[in-house]
Amino acid sequence: MGNPMRDPASEPMSKAFYVTTPIYYVNAEPHIGHTYTTVVADTLVRYHRLCGENSFMLTGTDEHGEKVFEVAEERGLPVEEVAKHYSDRFREAWDALGISYDRFIRTTDPDHKQVVQSILQQVYDAGEIEFREYEGDYCVGCERFLTERDMKDGLCIDHERAPEARKEANYFFKMSDHFPWLADYIQEHPDFIRPERYRNEVLSMLREESGLGDLCISRPKSRLHWGIELPFDPDYVCYVWFDALINYLTGIGYPDGPDFETLWGACEHLVGKDILKPHAVFWPTMLRAIGLSPARHLNVHGYWNVDNKKVSKSLGNMISPLIMQERYGFEAFRYFLLRDMVFGLDSSFSEESLVARINADLANNLGNLVSRTLNMTKRFAEGRVPEPGPAEEPEERVRKAAEEAVAGLQRHMSRTELHRALESVFQLADEANRYLEEREPWKAAKDPELAERVRTTLYTCCEALRILSILLSPFLPEKSAEIAARLGLADAHEGARLGEDTRWGGIPLGIETRKGDPLFPRIETAPETD
Ligand code: MSP
Repeated sequence: MGNPMRDPASEPMSKAFYVTTPIYYVNAEPHIGHTYTTVVADTLVRYHRLCGENSFMLTGTDEHGEKVFEVAEERGLPVEEVAKHYSDRFREAWDALGISYDRFIRTTDPDHKQVVQSILQQVYDAGEIEFREYEGDYCVGCERFLTERDMKDGLCIDHERAPEARKEANYFFKMSDHFPWLADYIQEHPDFIRPERYRNEVLSMLREESGLGDLCISRPKSRLHWGIELPFDPDYVCYVWFDALINYLTGIGYPDGPDFETLWGACEHLVGKDILKPHAVFWPTMLRAIGLSPARHLNVHGYWNVDNKKVSKSLGNMISPLIMQERYGFEAFRYFLLRDMVFGLDSSFSEESLVARINADLANNLGNLVSRTLNMTKRFAEGRVPEPGPAEEPEERVRKAAEEAVAGLQRHMSRTELHRALESVFQLADEANRYLEEREPWKAAKDPELAERVRTTLYTCCEALRILSILLSPFLPEKSAEIAARLGLADAHEGARLGEDTRWGGIPLGIETRKGDPLFPRIETAPETD
């Protein structure tokens, strides 16, 4: 079988990739839920950079709205101060964790305010905004009027609190006019919303939900002044979701930034399942109203639960990424998040399962392969990558595993199935470990007649490690760079490309390798009691 890899270098330079995280509310510290989406985005953007694409990652904070205003009121602080405080917490956390965002946007940034106002004016001028009186059940947690479906026993299902009855004259975006084309669009683009269960959910929302009508996009200043003023009525500010969604355009220089068109056409949104409706219904219709097409994909993930409850500030069961970093190293935690959650489904977090994962995959499998290969290269080949003899069937198996790992990575990353992408890549580490067991270089080295076999074995393992270091770089940026550095390939690793640099046989002969401390030390759990 031929090599199934595409060669990114031969692809047109115009290939682009743009990934967004939701922008986080500035009323809480970053927790496992925020960290998950951010890490998925970071992994995807690193992967697309590895493919040589013009790639951009946007993250940031959602600062307007009643929720944030309420926190400031409770604390007796200026709302700007509270917003900045939490926005800084997010930015500092992502910086400390090595997240490679291209822009960190705040909805209080001046360019964002200007874009929101110009879009509001455009939609207003197009006759898609109307002034009306409205009465309904408003949930401050959700920042919107609830429909029957959103409530159970008179309480908001997500926030378990009673909504307030509100009557107000407000501006409405005539969103329901757009539902017929939106339903058709979703039918005709079966992977626009993925995984499939969420697409079906949106289609049934559009078909059945009685309360899903037009979108109230204003708040009277008499009640809330914390927001972006409507350009056509200074007595109102813009509804926080209408403002927030637009960040995805501001972030890449809408309307006439040099990369706007290219990046918008390659946009991948990542969102948790609780914010499906604004992203799958409000947002595409807003975009249509200003003549833009929807994002390429809306990728929807489930919740991380702790003790079977959603992680949230109100329940006090948040898991801090910074504490996880201190305790286990961030890359181990990051690996767990990416490997253990089936993208789209809920997952359960516990430190026991985290430790079990780290020990099995990182310490035993990958870590062992690195230390065994480099120790033996030191002992039996003077620390240099030796020249191999002819490849036999066992060597061919490792080579084939490397090719399959590349193909599996490509296949699963294009579908945002990161857990499966990692599984494919780790099959190469499994295969290389099995190969070492079979070839037993520690025994073969005692027999001078097997000297060539030992060189071949070490070469094969070093080459498998080199390829692994590239394939793992989107998932484990620091540790993969460390593997490359120990192989004497730090410089090559920096600019490596998927395809041309992951073909078997690329490792230079004779380069000096370096063993080192265990890459992922085994984590011993609670001491034995007896
Ligand atoms: N500000 C809005 C998003 C606006 S995007 C234009 C918002 N912010 S949030 O801070 O409340 O949540 C941000 C994201 O974190 C959401 O995608 C949400 O699903 C995700 N998570 C919050 N808790 C979560 C878990 N326990 N597990 C996984 N993700 C969850 O919503």
